[in-house]
Amino acid sequence: MSKGLFITGTGTDIGKTYVTALLVKRLHDAGYNVGYYKAAISGADSVAESDAGFVNATANLGQSDEELLSYLYKTAVSPHLAAKLEDNPVEKEMVIKGYQRVAATRDFVTLEGSGGIVCPIRYDEVGHYFLTDIINWLHLPTLIVADAGLGTINTVVLTVEYLKARHIPVKGIILNNYTGGTMQEDNVYMIEELTGCKVLAKVAPGDTELAADPAMLAGLYE
Ligand SMILES: Nc1ncnc2c1ncn2[C@@H]1O[C@H](COP(=O)(O)OP(=O)(O)OP(=O)(O)O)[C@@H](O)[C@H]1O
Ligand SMILES: [Mg+2]
Repeated sequence: MSKGLFITGTGTDIGKTYVTALLVKRLHDAGYNVGYYKAAISGADSVAESDAGFVNATANLGQSDEELLSYLYKTAVSPHLAAKLEDNPVEKEMVIKGYQRVAATRDFVTLEGSGGIVCPIRYDEVGHYFLTDIINWLHLPTLIVADAGLGTINTVVLTVEYLKARHIPVKGIILNNYTGGTMQEDNVYMIEELTGCKVLAKVAPGDTELAADPAMLAGLYE
């Protein structure tokens, strides 16, 4: 049976795709049969130019465009609005099928959300879907990517509390753009204190490898 992990973040542009690519690459290089899936991407002209294409290329996954992504929107707005503007709403069945297609050939399926944890995917008269619905449909645990710097205690705690309130498991946190120093070291300490979740890894600017044990990373998938 294939296992999955949903990677979310404290906001847009925080480095979810960058960190996901390094995480997936670490597992792939260690011999794990890992794959990637994203339900919907907005603001990209092609799969290759999107988050999915970046992870696929960085980790050398060799997945087809159809396998990587179910909905591609060109308009660079939240998926729910892009779907409305382009008249192509996300269907629950398509997302479940899309995930299962990857899970059929990969032991570890890595998903990435759009934006932060509160992100409408579809909001019309037929359905109100949020990222947390996708997480629930697929019964996934989450990993949070956050910036290492100023303001991160607030955004990490809010994200963890939001997920906990919905009974969605949080496996840990990865801090991006970590450069060390008194404040960032204290951020690690305070985040762990206030959330009860571990900072599992730190990614420095320009890192090309994730400094984390592949077996630990594989253990995050459920
Ligand atoms: N550690 C890092 N070192 C160098 N560049 C980085 C790092 N983290 C992120 N970036 C760059 O910052 C930009 C935003 O990162 P990324 O695309 O991973 O964010 P995201 O959270 O996935 O954004 P979105 O919400 O659009 O999916 C990208 O150009 C990425 O290459
Ligand atoms: Mg991204």
